[in-house]
Amino acid sequence: MKLAIIVGSTRPNRQTHKEAKWVNKTAKEMEGIEPQVIDLADYPMPFFNEPMSPRYNPNREIGIEAKKWLDAIKDFDAYVFVTPEYNHSITGVLKNALDYITSELYHKPSAVVSHGSVGGARAAVQLKEILSESRTVVIPNAVAFIGVSEGVDEEGNISETLKANPYGPQAALISTLEELKWYSDALAKARG
Ligand SMILES: Cc1cc2nc3c(=O)[nH]c(=O)nc-3n(C[C@H](O)[C@H](O)[C@H](O)COP(=O)(O)O)c2cc1C
Repeated sequence: MKLAIIVGSTRPNRQTHKEAKWVNKTAKEMEGIEPQVIDLADYPMPFFNEPMSPRYNPNREIGIEAKKWLDAIKDFDAYVFVTPEYNHSITGVLKNALDYITSELYHKPSAVVSHGSVGGARAAVQLKEILSESRTVVIPNAVAFIGVSEGVDEEGNISETLKANPYGPQAALISTLEELKWYSDALAKARG
């Protein structure tokens, strides 16, 4: 499974890239997963401003910045969206990037990994709903992480206490990635 891990915030001093590194590290240790981090900070895009919904525009003229983003994500089998919670929702930068998407995620699975004071749960619920419009199969499993700033270091290492907790974020991430792989294999077969 070629897995894209999307970093959903871009501000200086952010925490989300640490959570994404942790997802990447964990995925690398699992059999059959080839993960790659795709950081929205590397794909600055203007606010979506196309004259028609891109899904219904056969003559779409896409800007080079957005094309670079879509080209970066199109060839994966599965996706993990790593999002913080901003004002009970996802970041503007992630929503903007998702508004450019047309068929890149069709019939491929996605999972949501969030963080915030309540694990980013409100952002995660909204993100699942938003992603469904991209016709990705959003899997039921998710990770809602409380305490990323203290629990994960700059290299994406999770604390030993959290790692050992059978009901903690490490256990939730492993089962989410296992489930994502199951959906990825099943959907790859179905796509042919
Ligand atoms: C603009 C803004 C709004 C926020 N709103 C919420 C919120 O509604 N709920 C919450 O749990 N945390 C909220 N937070 C805290 C963030 O979840 C936390 O700072 C997280 O680390 C942000 O991700 P980032 O560091 O990658 O930007 C907010 C943070 C910012 C910067």
